[in-house]
Amino acid sequence: MRGDRLDGRVALVIGGGSSAAVGGPSNGQAAALTYARHGATVVVVDRHAAAAEATARDIVAEGGRAVAAVADVRDGASIAALVDTVARDHGRIDVLHNNVGIEAPGDVVETTEEDWDLVHDVNLKGVFLTCKAAVPVMRAGGGGAIVNISSTASLRWSPARFLAYNSSKAALNHMSRIMARQLAPDRIRVNVVVPGMMDTPHIRTLYRDMTPEELAAKLAERDAACPMGRQGTCWDVAAASLFLASDAASYVTGVLLPVDGGLSI
Ligand SMILES: NC(=O)c1ccc[n+]([C@@H]2O[C@H](COP(=O)([O-])OP(=O)(O)OC[C@H]3O[C@@H](n4cnc5c(N)ncnc54)[C@H](O)[C@@H]3O)[C@@H](O)[C@H]2O)c1
Repeated sequence: MRGDRLDGRVALVIGGGSSAAVGGPSNGQAAALTYARHGATVVVVDRHAAAAEATARDIVAEGGRAVAAVADVRDGASIAALVDTVARDHGRIDVLHNNVGIEAPGDVVETTEEDWDLVHDVNLKGVFLTCKAAVPVMRAGGGGAIVNISSTASLRWSPARFLAYNSSKAALNHMSRIMARQLAPDRIRVNVVVPGMMDTPHIRTLYRDMTPEELAAKLAERDAACPMGRQGTCWDVAAASLFLASDAASYVTGVLLPVDGGLSI
């Protein structure tokens, strides 16, 4: 069987920092650390320099190779400049991991037009822009793997009222599948990880105003809502991402891989 090593490969992890100040690794950080632990040189990208630098520092501290870079996925010029720099400094891009995702509260009436645009700009257009910039470099290098992070909110109803988020992630799924077919002749695989309810620092920031007792009750409620009786972790998302990014998945493209403990069934 082909392995999951990424030695000699360059991985661009977009949103590899964390929006939360405390609470253990985020999905993006765990993916960056996992790629590095499997041999990749990781370019950790975030709109916040400190967030990107923290992840790169953690990788280097455990003996891996990483550099930090700043870019906002909403800004095509900033993304194009980033990809040019990576191509110049590292010569190739083998893995493009799109982790950035934001939400805004509201149903169809409550969601503001500004929030609708912002969420779609970040979650959907942002991935379009990173792929648009990185694909020519991957193509020139003989192929690669794109891993996009979606959500079970793209597939089914959820009690959280995040209409724009649901819509943007559903569009991300379909865009990814279409890109998978369009880029297959270039040996560029495009796959989607679909996390369910994960206990991450970002999720805990949504509950930041709760008392410790209220937070414990909310987390227990989330655990109970999962078929396995527990939420997933950032490492579950990272492990699935590694599979899709590596040669272990060399004939896998266009899949939506749920990492949700059965939630979406
Ligand atoms: N935690 C869950 O329960 C859960 C469930 C399903 C899906 N997801 C998905 O996981 C992903 C995020 O996970 P995380 O734990 O890493 O979140 P996070 O918020 O901790 O990290 C995301 C990073 O993206 C950066 N970012 C935000 N906007 C940006 C922009 N415009 N340009 C560049 N960088 C930007 C933030 O600064 C942050 O460092 C999202 O795609 C989210 O939809 C999470």
